[in-house]
Amino acid sequence: MSSSGGPKDPILLKSSMTKKPHRAAAPMIAVDRGSEKPLHRQIYDAFRAMILDRRLESGQQIPSTRALADELGISRIPVLDAYAQLLAEGYIESRSGAGTFVKRSLSDQFPSVRPTARSVLSHPGNEAISRLARLLPVERTPWFPSSGAFSVGQIAYDHFPFRVWSDLVTRHVRKVRVSSMNYADPMGSKEFREVIAVYLRTARAVRCDASQIMIVSGSQHALDLSARVLLESDIPVWIEEPGYELLRHTLLLSGCRLVPVPVDSEGLDVAAGMSLCRIARAAFVTPSHQYPLGATMSAARRLQLLEWAHRHNAWIVEDDYDSEYRYESMPVASMQGLDPGLRVIYIGTFSKTLFPSLRLGYIVIPPPLIAHFLAVRRANDLFPSHLYQAALADFIEAGHFTRHIRKTRQLYAERRNALAQALRKEFGSEIEILGAEAGMHLVVTLPPGHSDQKIAARAAQDGLWLWPLSTAYNGPSVRQGFILGFGGTRAADMLHQVRRLRKAIRESGNDA
Ligand SMILES: Cc1ncc(COP(=O)(O)O)c(C=O)c1O
Repeated sequence: MSSSGGPKDPILLKSSMTKKPHRAAAPMIAVDRGSEKPLHRQIYDAFRAMILDRRLESGQQIPSTRALADELGISRIPVLDAYAQLLAEGYIESRSGAGTFVKRSLSDQFPSVRPTARSVLSHPGNEAISRLARLLPVERTPWFPSSGAFSVGQIAYDHFPFRVWSDLVTRHVRKVRVSSMNYADPMGSKEFREVIAVYLRTARAVRCDASQIMIVSGSQHALDLSARVLLESDIPVWIEEPGYELLRHTLLLSGCRLVPVPVDSEGLDVAAGMSLCRIARAAFVTPSHQYPLGATMSAARRLQLLEWAHRHNAWIVEDDYDSEYRYESMPVASMQGLDPGLRVIYIGTFSKTLFPSLRLGYIVIPPPLIAHFLAVRRANDLFPSHLYQAALADFIEAGHFTRHIRKTRQLYAERRNALAQALRKEFGSEIEILGAEAGMHLVVTLPPGHSDQKIAARAAQDGLWLWPLSTAYNGPSVRQGFILGFGGTRAADMLHQVRRLRKAIRESGNDA
């Protein structure tokens, strides 16, 4: 401990080492001239730490700037800067003629009990959020990092028109205008909504105009906004069983009561829903391609569900997340288009047709609910970011979007065929393949006695991310299996990846 070391040595100072008597004892501060941290910051940090640790007490006098600079053997300027900052943040106060003191009122603000991790977590706030937080750690869901052969929702990055897209984005970055930097319409850009309205009326048979379309950051955001508009605590809501796991999470946050309604080869079983809970506020459904099992909701069921909604003043939330990809027939028309009575909230996304990090999707809102959605949006994130809306509007208008869908539809059909063939070759009739007619994933079910989560945990150790089917069930899992994405894997690699799946099953102590 020395104050006479070379310029790089820390200078340590103690009250006992002071040369001149001071009214205020100089606290023990180490400053290091060789450090990258500026001197004023070192002094500020030292005082702040001592005050917060209560080594310097409220009301205690601290040395004058001149005295401290003398003690430390440095110029007065860094000391003045440090004191000015401490003063501005309310740690110290100066009393004219008396000196500088640790702020007296600080002692009232210190918590009387020192928090520990355990005491903090004993009151973690919202109970539903705490429950979700406990479900999500990676140790419990090792398949979640998911970017690999069977990742659900992976697109064909190798066929994305990067050049066209980056030219469009660059053009919009270069021509920034004040209007594109300012606060904007909570519904989203008008030009973009008009382009989407044309697309939805033409390609998805949705009844809409641009004034009903709200741009959101993907369908997850749309589901969340819909839940906030429609739901309240303890209100019953129909969901598909099995269904989309993150929809359940969103709904749980609203405090509503989930009513899991079984699905079969015709989609949601409306009669079963009515016998479970006839009167519910809403039904959240995926009629074009039921997630995850893949059924297309039959016309009879669609009409039955609409009839139920009208009779009981319930809402239908149609999550049309991947309907552009259908392989054996034309895309199935939306359910919203069947309903003349404004009971369907229609949700779509560009995550599958383009790429998920775009975070762009849309809600087609029944006109009587537009004000409600606007109110929630204003309280939520105000409005969507401008740049990608503008670039995507141009991308669609110039015909790139339809061209890309046409191209990828063929590509995904090849990848799906390759996956189905490889599964048949490796597993024969021991597994069942479901939902391969549409979308970018299919489901394989395993014979009884298998644990899909155990297998997925084993596979994750080898970097193979498998999404267990059982996680899609709200209640006890009826079937075990995997939701296998095929969009991001080349047809030529499929057999190799399926062999890895087979190996993971074998090594986890199961053999299909
Ligand atoms: C059924 C379903 N709904 C919603 C989403 C959310 O998609 P995004 O928020 O990326 O648009 C997904 C994503 O995979 C999905 O599978």
